[in-house]
Amino acid sequence: MGKDVIVACDFASAEQVFSFLDKFTEKKPFVKIGMELFYAEGPEIVRQIKARGHKIFLDLKLHDIPNTVKKAMAVLSNLDVDICNLHAAGTTAMMQAALEGLTRPDGTRPLLIAVTQLTSTDQESMERDLLIHEPIDQVVMHYAKTAKNAGLDGIVCSPLEAGKVHEVCGKEFLTVTPGVRFADGEAGDQKRIMTPAQAKEIGSDYIVVGRPITAAADPVAAYNRCVAEFCD
Ligand code: C5P
Repeated sequence: MGKDVIVACDFASAEQVFSFLDKFTEKKPFVKIGMELFYAEGPEIVRQIKARGHKIFLDLKLHDIPNTVKKAMAVLSNLDVDICNLHAAGTTAMMQAALEGLTRPDGTRPLLIAVTQLTSTDQESMERDLLIHEPIDQVVMHYAKTAKNAGLDGIVCSPLEAGKVHEVCGKEFLTVTPGVRFADGEAGDQKRIMTPAQAKEIGSDYIVVGRPITAAADPVAAYNRCVAEFCD
């Protein structure tokens, strides 16, 4: 898979997501389904969006004991998604078990990427609540290396970290980066942001874009602008 724009479909119902996706009559965007939509509509929403011809990143961020994650991943692999994810904090044993569960009898599997430290976690909360005292960027790089050594395909990270992750883990290790905004757009609650063109420049493999597309007056035009800046 090459560089692509993944649209974060953070909607609370099938009705809302389909009325949004119906606007895309030409190129079918790569879609991210998160916890909100999945918990509201269940696995059927994944099958329905897939049947419409979209690639899917199922963003459920699994984190549990290895055996439980392995079994859950085996179920998700039957949904025929393209990318799914977990928390690197579950450690190597959990990530390896996830890969085993995800691998289908014919040897194929969705790509598996890891969340390192959530972007909502800062140095202060990491030290206070998690008792991790290293600088947060080193913690993120350590989690990235651990995910790579466990056999994962990449990580979710800020576009600001994508270049460093490629230096440390190699060019093939995927960086999937939210926190993307147009130069003339609103940042909203995202703090460490980049434009699609800057994310391309720094080497992000996939950008995850939500509100700049879903809340735009013309979502298809906003999506096309992202694709033009990031992919072309
Ligand atoms: O609307 P916006 O472009 O901010 O959406 C970004 C998407 O990426 C959301 O679905 C958000 O949950 C997700 N995300 C993020 N930061 C992370 C991990 C995921 O913004 N570190």
